[in-house]
Amino acid sequence: MVAAMDTPPPPADSPAASPTPPRTRLRVPTLALLPVYTAALERGWTPDNVRGLVANREALERIAQDPAGFIALTDNREGGGPLVTLADGSQVPRVPSLQRWIWDADDDGPTGFAGLINLRWNHGHAPLPPHVLGHVGYSLVPWQRRRGHGTRALGLLLPLARELGMGFVELTTDPDNEPSQKVILANGGVLLGAFDKGPVYGHSPGLRFRIDL
Ligand SMILES: CC(C)(COP(=O)(O)OP(=O)(O)OC[C@H]1O[C@@H](n2cnc3c(N)ncnc32)[C@H](O)[C@@H]1OP(=O)(O)O)[C@@H](O)C(=O)NCCC(=O)NCCS
Repeated sequence: MVAAMDTPPPPADSPAASPTPPRTRLRVPTLALLPVYTAALERGWTPDNVRGLVANREALERIAQDPAGFIALTDNREGGGPLVTLADGSQVPRVPSLQRWIWDADDDGPTGFAGLINLRWNHGHAPLPPHVLGHVGYSLVPWQRRRGHGTRALGLLLPLARELGMGFVELTTDPDNEPSQKVILANGGVLLGAFDKGPVYGHSPGLRFRIDL
């Protein structure tokens, strides 16, 4: 009889050797969770995919000045509040929006924080203004990427969009952002085509996708 300790390990490419992928959940942002979010910003994560580190610094300042106001803006179903600064420095009114924080479902603690996902829409579900690049935005902290959280977070957000009365969501990506495109396609997204992002974004090209709900 062979002792258990002598059993050879499974080959590296066998299913038994693959780590179980983490599960994902969306959490409502709260003051209690805010220190975890702040720590990720301080570590250099930039949730604003367009304005990068500038937006990161502004967010840290806003959190320091008014943490409750920062959290209140993550559930802004009526829109309004402080103006949004765009990539070209112009400022525009806020459309209605909701934010959720992405978390490893098996790790409630700080190490489980994985990023954010935003849903935004126009009043009365009118078409979005051209400077709003899609109904959904997401950003994973670099140390939690490629673990399936992005794909699952979008899947978890879609029922929320449906509950809000949306019949579809549009999402946009840069043409070279293959990971984001895969996230969208894995959730039933269909490519509508290429578009010009307009003057605010220096007329850079984008791809527009749609997911019917
Ligand atoms: C795009 C982003 C959200 C993807 O999140 P993620 O949790 O890493 O994605 P997933 O683990 O669900 O991976 C989705 C797919 O992309 C692939 N992928 C992820 N990162 C990749 C990379 N750096 N290079 C190549 N492929 C990658 C995965 O292998 C997976 O492919 P598969 O479906 O064929 O298995 C994340 O990379 C991110 O936050 N990027 C910066 C912000 C951003 O670009 N936001 C979107 C703006 S439109």
